[in-house]
Amino acid sequence: MRQPLILIVDDEEHIRKIMSIMLGKKGYACRLAASGEEALGAIKKESFDAVLTDLNMPGLDGLGLLARIKETDPELEVIVVTAFATIETAILAMKAGAYDYIAKPFNEDEMVLVLEKALERGRLLAENQRLKREMGERLDSGSFLGSSQAMKNVFALIAKVAEVKATVLITGESGTGKELAAQSIHRNGPRRDKPFVAVNCGAIPANLLESEFFGHVRGAFTGADRAKEGLLAEADGGTLFLDEVAELPLEMQVKFLRVLQEEEIRRVGDNVSRKVDLRVLAATNRNLTEEVASGRFREDLYYRLNVIRLNLPPLRERPEDIPILAVHFLAQAVQKNQLPPKTLSPAALRVLSAQTYSGNVRALKNIIEQAAIMSDGETIGPKDLPFSSDAIESPAGLVLKIPEDWLDLKVATQEVIKTLEEILLKRALSLKNGNQSQAAKVLGISRRSIITKVQTYGLGSKRKAPPFKP
Ligand SMILES: Nc1ncnc2c1ncn2[C@@H]1O[C@H](COP(=O)(O)OP(=O)(O)OP(=O)(O)O)[C@@H](O)[C@H]1O
Ligand SMILES: [Mg+2]
Repeated sequence: MRQPLILIVDDEEHIRKIMSIMLGKKGYACRLAASGEEALGAIKKESFDAVLTDLNMPGLDGLGLLARIKETDPELEVIVVTAFATIETAILAMKAGAYDYIAKPFNEDEMVLVLEKALERGRLLAENQRLKREMGERLDSGSFLGSSQAMKNVFALIAKVAEVKATVLITGESGTGKELAAQSIHRNGPRRDKPFVAVNCGAIPANLLESEFFGHVRGAFTGADRAKEGLLAEADGGTLFLDEVAELPLEMQVKFLRVLQEEEIRRVGDNVSRKVDLRVLAATNRNLTEEVASGRFREDLYYRLNVIRLNLPPLRERPEDIPILAVHFLAQAVQKNQLPPKTLSPAALRVLSAQTYSGNVRALKNIIEQAAIMSDGETIGPKDLPFSSDAIESPAGLVLKIPEDWLDLKVATQEVIKTLEEILLKRALSLKNGNQSQAAKVLGISRRSIITKVQTYGLGSKRKAPPFKP
């Protein structure tokens, strides 16, 4: 951290000197001004962390100076220094926005204490603004979130590998955030201002791959009526992200290996090569060692790509991340679809956290966006989520309302039984598509008693939620 810079304003020279010596000893840098006017001039020139000013000065006095500072730079903290006789004025000054006052004759410790507090507040304000900016940025698609230890490990690895040029192989199931991880490596590294070129290796037809990657000269093949730069040239100086790298045909794998080894590319039909400076990231949701074993992926390319391995854990291994992701996706969906503000109820968050998502984070994101659009009220509850009633009644969703002062075992047991009964009743009805006679059979009770129970729990009119398949 740089040395804090303090402006000392006093019309008496010896006071300015004493203060600057005291503060200098404590590690502050000081500038001195003999009047309010001089102080304003200094503030225009340099960026101060705090101002210590006398109140009684000829010309622009302390109060006047304070007012001018608060007009132009409300976050610059001002501390007034005043003789005992003018404490009333000091209080006035505080009402006008001064941070604090110090009475003359002052002692060193008191002055440093007040100053430190003022500086701390300035730092907090700055930190707050930084956080707000970050939160704003988080809402754009670039944000990569997670509070689980597994994701903290991922972030730590990203921070480390972002700095270097080594190739990273990003693995993980579908929808776990591989592309986001690649973007994050690029954004956090020295190439952040250079291009990030993502290529989906599975989406380019095999016969076009070479010219898409390497470019071509005019007339290189039929239809090449003008020269074209390839994706590798486009990524020069930046990052090339090879998504779904396992889909690359074997011939292209050989060509890529050469690019990685020699950092040279040659356009189709060209007879000269050119140097490129590429940072290569690759991703796959296939097991590349199996692909290598079966001969579909070149072993030498695999080792070239797998210099550093970043594995993104599936969401079911980090359910702690679900609430933070859900809240984030809701804010995103609200913004994207211009919806009124919405929140997720605690019960909805519980239900979301109790699910497993075979489509991982992407599936969660889709569910939240759908719920945001479809729900009517301000709050999204369990009923707005596309899970079957079974899922809602999973243990995480089971809430027993037993007041704390209930010690009566019989009453408590009855409450538990009632809750369980309701769950089993719903489950049986859902299994039998709402047919009460059949549900009664499964439950082993009479038709009459199921009718009574359905009424007691108010289950009669509920429609059956469709089974959930992310
Ligand atoms: N940790 C996360 N924080 C915020 N958003 C995330 C996170 N992980 C994934 N997402 C979001 O989920 C969606 C899927 O992520 P991404 O495309 O990076 O996954 P992927 O692993 O590349 O999937 P696939 O294997 O299907 O290509 C994206 O919309 C992404 O923004
Ligand atoms: Mg992807």
